[in-house]
Amino acid sequence: MIKGFIFDLDGVITDTAESHYKAWKKLSDDMGWDFDHEVNDKLRGISRMDSIQVILDHNNTSLDAETLAKLATKKNDIYVASLETMTPDDYLPGAKELLTHLRTEGFSVALGSASKNAIKVLEQLNASGYFDVIGDGNSVSKSKPEPDIFLYGAEKLNLQPEECIVFEDAESGIDAAKAGGFHSVGIGPKERLGHADLRFDTMAEATLFEIKSYFKDLF
Ligand code: BG6
Ligand code: MG
Repeated sequence: MIKGFIFDLDGVITDTAESHYKAWKKLSDDMGWDFDHEVNDKLRGISRMDSIQVILDHNNTSLDAETLAKLATKKNDIYVASLETMTPDDYLPGAKELLTHLRTEGFSVALGSASKNAIKVLEQLNASGYFDVIGDGNSVSKSKPEPDIFLYGAEKLNLQPEECIVFEDAESGIDAAKAGGFHSVGIGPKERLGHADLRFDTMAEATLFEIKSYFKDLF
């Protein structure tokens, strides 16, 4: 039976992908690196340091670890500054409604984000109250597509993976959910999330009614 839900943050609860894009783009422009939305899409769900490595590989460049860490911090400073203008109006359409519905129906809810800025984002949205457990980029060392962040959330909720549905917008996130034995819902295009158990183009379509209809034997 489904007793819990584990949500990714960036791209599921709020659209930070564009803010991440702008921060990486600024760094890339300063460094003379090529960077576009197609490369940015490959960064969905993966950690900050894995992200800068993807950008370097795309540019056939390599740098020492210390320089890499400094540049990643520079990108993060730009990203964090951009979060200041985020407000409780910046949920993706449908996200707040679903979180509210899950609360009223008494489901357990965890956050399973790769971001080290997750708490800041939740504060800006005033969303912390929707979550019983917060798993973020500081909670586990192995990031998606490894299942560790979702296993962390399930364990803290005292649930088995098969009792939880994971919500993700990243290919690596659905890979992680599957690797951990979770049910999965993908938010985004089929080309990216065709391997999710259930997929919606947007959060606005992901109502509890639709989810219960699909996973009907599990409710
Ligand atoms: C994920 C984003 O949620 O967090 C990635 O999808 C990002 O794009 C990752 O790289 C790490 O985020 P942060 O905030 O710790 O740099
Ligand atoms: Mg995401």
